[in-house]
Amino acid sequence: MPKKITREFIEGLPKAELHLHLEGTLEPELKLKLAQKNGIDIGQTTIEDVRKSYDYDSLASFLAVYYPGMNVLQTEDDFYQLALEYLQKAKLNGVRHVEMFFDPQAHLTRGIAFETFIKGYHRACVDAAAFNVDAHLIMCFLRDMPAKSANEVLEMAKPYRDMILGVGLDSDEHHNPPLKFARPYSDAADQGYYTTMHADIDQVDSIEHIKQALEIIEVDRLDHGTNIVENQDLVDWVNQKQLGLTSCPLSNGFVTNDMKGKEIVELMEQGVKVSINSDDPAYFGGYIADNYEALAEKYDLTAEQLVTFAKNSFETSWISDFQKETYLKEIDEFVEKF
Ligand code: ADE
Ligand code: ZN
Repeated sequence: MPKKITREFIEGLPKAELHLHLEGTLEPELKLKLAQKNGIDIGQTTIEDVRKSYDYDSLASFLAVYYPGMNVLQTEDDFYQLALEYLQKAKLNGVRHVEMFFDPQAHLTRGIAFETFIKGYHRACVDAAAFNVDAHLIMCFLRDMPAKSANEVLEMAKPYRDMILGVGLDSDEHHNPPLKFARPYSDAADQGYYTTMHADIDQVDSIEHIKQALEIIEVDRLDHGTNIVENQDLVDWVNQKQLGLTSCPLSNGFVTNDMKGKEIVELMEQGVKVSINSDDPAYFGGYIADNYEALAEKYDLTAEQLVTFAKNSFETSWISDFQKETYLKEIDEFVEKF
C-alpha cells in the first residue's frame, strides 16, 4: 500500500461508479456544440459564458440551471454522444463498472420520445464494453412530479425492460417524501427492478425521509444519505442490511458548502458501505478520481481508506457475487503491484 497517495494510484484503482446522472455530464463544450447543431438558443454563445452560467450554491439553484440545459439533447445520437463521452472519461478514471441515472420525465415533458433517449443511452452502454467499461442504466423518477407520472414512466419503459437495471428518485426533495412514491416503487420491485433513491444532504426532513426509504419502501441502496450519521438506529439498520450509501463529496461542497468528509469517514469507520461518486461531474467540478482526490487531500485519508471506498463500490453494486469477487481481486492485485 503506498504511503503517499498519488493521482496515478487514484486513477488506477479499480472502481465502480454508482451515483452519476448522465444529464449531469453535459460539459459546456458539448452543450454549445449541440445547441448550435440543433438550432437551440441557450442564452450563451461562447464556452466561457456557458461555463460562467454553471453557478449555484444550493440544490434548488443547481436544478434551475440543470433542467433548461437538457434542451440541447434532441436526437438519439445526442444522447449517445453524451453517454459515450462520459464513459470514455470514466475509463480514464479507473471505472470498471457503472450504474448511471437518467431522467425520463425531463425529456418526455419537452416532447422527446422514450425510444429516442433509451436507444441512445443503451447503445453507448453496449459500445463501452469494447473499452472494458461495464455500463448499466437506472431510470429516475422526478420527485417534484406526481406519483401518477412515475407510474406512467414505468409503463412506457416496459418494452425496454431489459435495458434498465433499476429505478431511482431525484430532483427537489423538499415536500416530496419517499412515501409519495410508494406505489411506483412497489410496482417497480414487482417488475424485478433494483431500487434506490436520493436522500439529499441536510434536507428539512432528512431523517424522516431516510426512515421512509429504508423501513417502508425498503430500497436496495441509498443515494447520499449521509445524514444517517445523526441517528445510531439508522446506522445500525444500514449495517445490518449491508446497504450501500453513494456519497458525492464535490457535489456536497456545492449544495451545502461542505464536502461532508467528516461524516463520510465516520460512517465508513462504523462499517457503513459508503462509496465515492461524482453525481453531476460537468456541473460540480470533477469526475470520480477528482472526488477521491479532493476527499483524500482535505481529510488526509490513507490509501487503505481509499481502497475501502473502492471495495464498497463493488460490494454494493448490482452485479453477481462472482463478478464482485473478480473486481475485489483486481483491486488486491492492483494494490499489491503498486
Ligand atoms: N438531479 C441531478 N443531480 C441531483 C442531485 N444531486 N440531487 C437531486 N437531484 C438531482
Ligand atoms: Zn444525485
